[in-house]
Amino acid sequence: MVKLGGYINYMREEINNIKNGAIAQIMSAKDVAELDSIKTAYLGRKGKLNLIIKKLKDLPEDEKKQTGILINEAKDTLIEQIINKKNTFRESVRKWYDPTVPGIEPALGNQHLITQAIDEISAIFTQIGFVRVRYPEAEWDWFAFESLNMPPDHPARDEWETFFIETPSHPKYGKMVLTPHTSNGQIREMQRVGNPPAGGPPIRMINIAKCYRRQSDLTHSQMFHQFEGLVVDKDINITHLKGTIDYFAKKYYGEKAVSRIRPFHFQFTEPSFEVDFSCIHCHGRARLSNGQRCKFCKSGWHEVGGAGMVHPNVLRAGGINPNKYTGFAFGWGVERVRLLKSGTTINDVRNLYSSDLRLLTQY
Ligand code: FA5
Repeated sequence: MVKLGGYINYMREEINNIKNGAIAQIMSAKDVAELDSIKTAYLGRKGKLNLIIKKLKDLPEDEKKQTGILINEAKDTLIEQIINKKNTFRESVRKWYDPTVPGIEPALGNQHLITQAIDEISAIFTQIGFVRVRYPEAEWDWFAFESLNMPPDHPARDEWETFFIETPSHPKYGKMVLTPHTSNGQIREMQRVGNPPAGGPPIRMINIAKCYRRQSDLTHSQMFHQFEGLVVDKDINITHLKGTIDYFAKKYYGEKAVSRIRPFHFQFTEPSFEVDFSCIHCHGRARLSNGQRCKFCKSGWHEVGGAGMVHPNVLRAGGINPNKYTGFAFGWGVERVRLLKSGTTINDVRNLYSSDLRLLTQY
């Protein structure tokens, strides 16, 4: 005869076995229909757990009660397991295929203001036969200065406030620098084109690149962009230069825009000029149509960069005969030119490179 306490233990073991068998089946169920049939087999009216209840009828009241509690706990556990397993089916259905869930709209990016400007500038010059070229932005001193008529220790170099790269010097070309202007492209292009009969001018290049200087204020950033034009051919003169400057001003700022050139000095051009474009608000008058002073320019004009006729020494350094060919060159700041456009409210050039999307997504 089984002792009462021993019978409870026996029942406990049997209930546990049933429960564990059910859990194993629930875990490996493949779909909701299989779960439903497991539920009927264990929890249904004629299910395995309910059949045990029938074995309790001859037990004393307190044993019946305790066994009943064990059965109910087992039932609760199985119901919970079945619900959890059903939810995993629902989740995987939702994850992989639920046509009713609204899609997540990805944030749309836009090109940086200066990238847009570079594309526009390239297109304007391409229309009149210029070809965009690309030359190194980490460059030998010779291309950045010496070939441009600025021998070592020449004081004019100071204006370029150059970053030098710590690397062994080139035996012929000297130290390596981060290009402080795009004028190195002049020499590189002349050398690429070479001379007749195999090659030679005409050259119509536009070199747009990053430049680096140790400068930082409202109108200067340590990294900025320039676009450098170079035209070399027979009989090129200042009228071609002025015509090209005017063409760009009108194409970029609109038909009312005009340009002016002022005498200046660069080592690599002779004569040299500074180039100004008329202010888009007052059109060079320094006063608005209501008679008030133009606050945008104060003088009616904005300086954008330099220009001039290519110095014979520079042509020579590029391997081109200055007795046969002449040329003009210009180099202007992309940021400077772009920020002067109508509707631009950025008054600190450094903000362009602050990666602040609140600003950049406006353009
Ligand atoms: C030059 O760099 C000459 N190489 C231009 C040139 C080319 C003259 C060919 C003659 C023939 P400059 O240092 O003035 O010149 O720079 C030209 C323009 O680059 C400036 O007017 C300005 O628009 C832009 N610029 C120069 N430094 C910075 C800077 N730190 N941040 C933003 N823009 C700059």
